[in-house]
Amino acid sequence: MTEPLFSEDEEFDRPRLAAHGPVRVRVPAKINLHLHVGPVRSDGFHELTTVYHAIGLYDEITARRGDTLTLTMEGEGTGELSLGEDNLVMRAVRALAAETGHDAHARLHLKKQIPIAAGLAGGSADAAAALVACDQLWGTGLSRDDLAVIAATLGSDIPFLVLGGTALGTGRGELVSPILTGGHSWHWVLAVAEEGLSTPVVYRAFDELDAHTSAGPPDGLMAALRQRNPEVLAGELANDLQAAALHLRPELQQVLDAGLDAGALAGMISGSGPTCVFLAEDARHAALIAADLEESRCCRAVRTAVGPVPGARVL
Ligand code: C5P
Repeated sequence: MTEPLFSEDEEFDRPRLAAHGPVRVRVPAKINLHLHVGPVRSDGFHELTTVYHAIGLYDEITARRGDTLTLTMEGEGTGELSLGEDNLVMRAVRALAAETGHDAHARLHLKKQIPIAAGLAGGSADAAAALVACDQLWGTGLSRDDLAVIAATLGSDIPFLVLGGTALGTGRGELVSPILTGGHSWHWVLAVAEEGLSTPVVYRAFDELDAHTSAGPPDGLMAALRQRNPEVLAGELANDLQAAALHLRPELQQVLDAGLDAGALAGMISGSGPTCVFLAEDARHAALIAADLEESRCCRAVRTAVGPVPGARVL
């Protein structure tokens, strides 16, 4: 008799058996629909209240069995990334191995579409994908909550990329709870800048500018998500880091203006930037805004994406 692949008390997609073939995991980018930055804590991080939203722009990681740990990459910006132990993917695999007692052995290949240093959490997404991929490759059978605990030790956004969807983030962003939005899809246009922005540099500029706002809890945003009306949602998008990103890159104001001139319902900097994100009424409207932005040549690349989508998942 063959062993059952799933035992009854496990989540349906988390087999405890190690995979013999390659494991492919797809992971989305994120934007922040609301990002309120509070005071600096004693550990140097800022207290956040944020609403994360996973969008359909993906990186993909393939994990195969190996005798050591190796990483190769292709695609968007990979020439600039380290393949060594400092890469967040390598750190994620080492952390999972340490936690589970498994040898940190895997051959990983990363295909990147999410621009790096763009305010879209591309590096965090890759770390989340590596955790999910090696969990499956090794058959460690951790729950998503277990993976999120390891993820939190690696970076503030990583637990959200394990989860996906739309979620409230608190603490330094690592404490996430899902927001149920009833299956409605929102349409976004992303204007990707030529050159990235460093997240710590943007937070430092935020402190120097003392750009704190008095934003309360995102109740209006939550209500707008439930109403499913993009014009209402447009009035509720907020990002405290926008002033700091614009201070460092004043020319991003032209990109925001170009998107609004193209008819977007709202435009804002994504996370710590420099990507600008625009809300559209529907897929057709998003395509029209994207075409206008491309024509204006104000940015390196334009993408459309739908959200919310699931977090890191085995294909
Ligand atoms: O957590 P993560 O490594 O992604 O954060 C990158 C940098 O962003 C931190 O080193 C810190 O400078 C800044 N940050 C912060 N407060 C947060 C999250 C990030 O100051 N809540």
